[in-house]
Amino acid sequence: MALLEVNDLSISFGGLRAVDDLSFSIEKGELYGLIGPNGAGKTTVFNLLTGVYKPTEGIIRLDGEDITGKKTVDINKAGIARTFQNIRLFKELPVIDNVAVGLQNIEGCMYSTLDSILHTPKYHKVEKEIRDRSMELLKVFSLDGEWDIMASNLPYGKQRKLEIARAMATSPKLLLLDEPAAGMNPNETAELMDTISLIRDKFGMTILLIEHDMKLVSGICEKLTVLNFGRVLKQGVTKAVLEDPEVIKAYIGE
Ligand SMILES: Nc1ncnc2c1ncn2[C@@H]1O[C@H](COP(=O)(O)OP(=O)(O)O)[C@@H](O)[C@H]1O
Ligand SMILES: [Mg+2]
Repeated sequence: MALLEVNDLSISFGGLRAVDDLSFSIEKGELYGLIGPNGAGKTTVFNLLTGVYKPTEGIIRLDGEDITGKKTVDINKAGIARTFQNIRLFKELPVIDNVAVGLQNIEGCMYSTLDSILHTPKYHKVEKEIRDRSMELLKVFSLDGEWDIMASNLPYGKQRKLEIARAMATSPKLLLLDEPAAGMNPNETAELMDTISLIRDKFGMTILLIEHDMKLVSGICEKLTVLNFGRVLKQGVTKAVLEDPEVIKAYIGE
């Protein structure tokens, strides 16, 4: 059974069919690319998958569970975490706290209100656990050296990484990344692509990656769906998609 199954998904905004009859599935541990030019409908797909919008038609299943039209908070609980095209961090909080918030309510990281008021041994144990796990995640993204500085003082490329670290902290089944390399320089971008591959290889994370630059993700994604005007232009194994004449005409030659 696929981890994510999307069948005949559509949404209209007035007369505009932003996503039109989209179907695809992602296996556990897969790194899957959703590609297309600006305005193709990529972010709208994420908004549908995370309950920000309800689809006009179609079904979304996560691990066999029908999550179509559920509330964002319930979809997060079911196991989908995302990052945003425009960074959303707690900019006035230290780097480590941005990750720690994602760990709240995770097994081993819970204490009662009373524990926190009385600062019981349990409170201290859980606080240490949260801190240790946060530092481990920061290490993956080479942010551990900057754990105590305010998020807004991180360079832009590192803020983007921190956003991914925070999404990972919730231990999602599926991680959605919306143009994570946007605004990065070529070196930062190459490094980020390596880190995304590493997350999949080291943690077995299943990842759906949005990007408008196909060349950027074709090296790391096993499968791609290419969207154009909300419709699937081509989908399948990366190599076959890249060799498709229509795709070459639309993207490679640009
Ligand atoms: N809430 C909305 N209301 C009206 N139109 C929208 C809304 N969200 C997205 N759209 C339109 O849907 C199309 C796809 O947008 P989007 O998913 O953001 O594209 P992409 O992420 O591929 O650049 C665009 O034409 C956009 O203007
Ligand atoms: Mg977008």
